[in-house]
Amino acid sequence: MRVVIVGSAHDAAAYGCDLFLGQLHDKPTSVFGLATGSTPLALYQALIDAHRNQGISFAQVTTFNLDEYVGLAGDHSQSYRHFMQRNLFDCIDVAPENTHVPNGMAENAELACAEYEAQIMNAGGIDLQLLGVGRNGHIGFNEPSSSLVSRTRVKTLTEGTIADNARFFADGEYQPSLSLTMGIGTIMDARRVLLIATGDSKADAMRAAIEGPVSAACPASILQMHADAIVVMDEAAAAKLR
Ligand code: F6R
Repeated sequence: MRVVIVGSAHDAAAYGCDLFLGQLHDKPTSVFGLATGSTPLALYQALIDAHRNQGISFAQVTTFNLDEYVGLAGDHSQSYRHFMQRNLFDCIDVAPENTHVPNGMAENAELACAEYEAQIMNAGGIDLQLLGVGRNGHIGFNEPSSSLVSRTRVKTLTEGTIADNARFFADGEYQPSLSLTMGIGTIMDARRVLLIATGDSKADAMRAAIEGPVSAACPASILQMHADAIVVMDEAAAAKLR
């Protein structure tokens, strides 16, 4: 695990953007694993800027998102598919058919999860997987106690995660408590993993992930076992490292 501490969230996004553009340069047909939430927004904006200002093309890229809410259709304003369209896909030249987000409306969720795994495999596996981290150390929606070898499946969100994500939902709006998420084993199969953590709310999770034992109690700690994992933090997220 390579640990990189930078001065600000902006610097973390710039670092991540360089990694993505380097990967794209080396392999224009790269398969990217993507995340939602607040953390990747600045990185996505940097990629959009690179597309608009430097003519960087994503036309041959394939993407797989980590997770989706069960019960929200792709056109629902709070779905992760919608998030990705708004914050990245609609702003670059990625081919729509090459973008994948788990189907939160699948009638047979188990089958949809197995198909998602097969799609990743058929695409040749993920070259670079982007991760944020939950305050409880979750990656994707693999909450603490998730199997460290899990595959894409349905996961119940913890009360803490539901509370953390309530900021994205309007008062009284239905907020799902189930998700479809890549498993920890799925994430670990990516050839390279980039986790970005910014802000002091992530400091406890990052200390457990980097300095604690590898444990399902902190799913992000599994990255200690990955051959090419890079953890980029701003100073606030790194504040509790010893
Ligand atoms: C999102 C995801 C989650 C988030 C995590 C951090 O696709 O898989 O693990 O990365 O909850 O969220 P933010 O970035 O909003 O703090």
